[in-house]
Amino acid sequence: MARSEGLICKLCLVCSVIVNLFFGLNLYVGRHGVWGWKWSSDEANVRGLSWSGKAAAEAESAAAQECSGHGRAYLDGVVVDGRPVCECSTCYGGPDCSLFLPSCSANADGGDPLFLEPFWKQHAESSAVVVAGWHRMSYSFSDETTLSKELESQLRRLHSLVGNAITDGKYILFGAGSTQLLNAAVHALSPHNSSLPAKAVASIPYYALYQAQTEFFDSADCSFQGDPAQWKNATNTTGDIIEFVTAPNNPNGHLNEAVLHGPNVKTIHDRAYYWPHFTGIPSPADEDITIFTISKLTGHAGSRFGWALIRNEEVFQRMNMYLQLNTMGVSRDTQLRALKLLKVIVEDGGREIFEFGYKTMTKRWDRLRKTLSVSNRFSLQKVPPVNCTYFQKARDPTPAYAWVKCEREEDRNCIEILNAAKILGRGGSVFHDDDRYARLSLIRSNDDFDMLISRLESLVSREDGVKIMQS
Ligand SMILES: Cc1ncc(COP(=O)(O)O)c(C=O)c1O
Repeated sequence: MARSEGLICKLCLVCSVIVNLFFGLNLYVGRHGVWGWKWSSDEANVRGLSWSGKAAAEAESAAAQECSGHGRAYLDGVVVDGRPVCECSTCYGGPDCSLFLPSCSANADGGDPLFLEPFWKQHAESSAVVVAGWHRMSYSFSDETTLSKELESQLRRLHSLVGNAITDGKYILFGAGSTQLLNAAVHALSPHNSSLPAKAVASIPYYALYQAQTEFFDSADCSFQGDPAQWKNATNTTGDIIEFVTAPNNPNGHLNEAVLHGPNVKTIHDRAYYWPHFTGIPSPADEDITIFTISKLTGHAGSRFGWALIRNEEVFQRMNMYLQLNTMGVSRDTQLRALKLLKVIVEDGGREIFEFGYKTMTKRWDRLRKTLSVSNRFSLQKVPPVNCTYFQKARDPTPAYAWVKCEREEDRNCIEILNAAKILGRGGSVFHDDDRYARLSLIRSNDDFDMLISRLESLVSREDGVKIMQS
């Protein structure tokens, strides 16, 4: 008995020496290790760092929470038991989001662009940002501006790679999302100290914010007047007109063009969706004011970053004045984040993100079309194919939103019918169109989109004579 105990003790000792030798050698030999056991690049890098390791570990710990694949935990989320809690997708609940809530409504409302979230998870390393506690504490950059020159040059590079806008000879301004820039543009284009305010117009159906913002800020220099068609043949129109042109349009995805032209007409081109995820790029935009946003390019709506390309110096100065008085420019932290994200895109000429976005949107449109193809009750907008200079082919547009029409005479309020079938979206009147239409978002998370298709399938299956083929 005593002999066998002694043997076991010796064996343990030998094992312990071998294990210690293995790990000791790995530490000593460094990142290449012994027996091909390598340090990952993260481990190797973190070992040489001083103050950022703990922050990186915290960020990774929050990101590592799987939330059953139906939610996400964020560093700044509510903390329970020392960890940020899971924030679940619409139809999931429970502490780890594993609980499916079968009676919930599919959320196809709003414009949250979470369809790009899987892309950023695949690019976790290249897109992460570490921010030092003392990062850019000043009001301004060292050149006394509030704009990062590096970010400006990445934006110019991006447009030239994608071919969706000419930036040569244009000024660039940053805004807290395109939302802020849209009103800065209205301010800059409105006459000052004139007894005749400008009329702001947008073709129906239009993005509701144009009217809401113009009316809310209630400037003496500009008032919202609805659809431009009423001014098209009015040769004796006095005063300036500011036309919002949205291409592709929210809600219906059409590549709108300006309706009004003439010396008293000024145009604001909103190109939030002019990216290969959503449309072919027939030619680069070369307009007096063109507004873009990362919200629908990278999907980071929460970072609040947009930019405007402006031809005329005086308009640039007036917009800049608005932005300085309003927020003193865009948060430097946001500019840093935007820079990092753009670098990921620009690095491979946008190939990966645009292929991902285009593929995701194409699959979603295919599923939606298939689901509604058996329906006589609901129809979808038709947007003609366009030549895409970026993908070098003609392609069908894959708009961010479905503009659904309820075809039955008695279905006058389409969103009510969808709501009753547990589908959330926006009614046509929100876009100043007929309530026979409703907008459904196709750019939300995979969970939201799957739920939308499931709810639509059961709605359509209740139509007389419909046989559903399972997708
Ligand atoms: C046409 C259009 N313009 C502007 C915006 C606002 O975007 P941002 O997040 O940049 O303020 C949206 C948002 O949905 C939009 O659809």
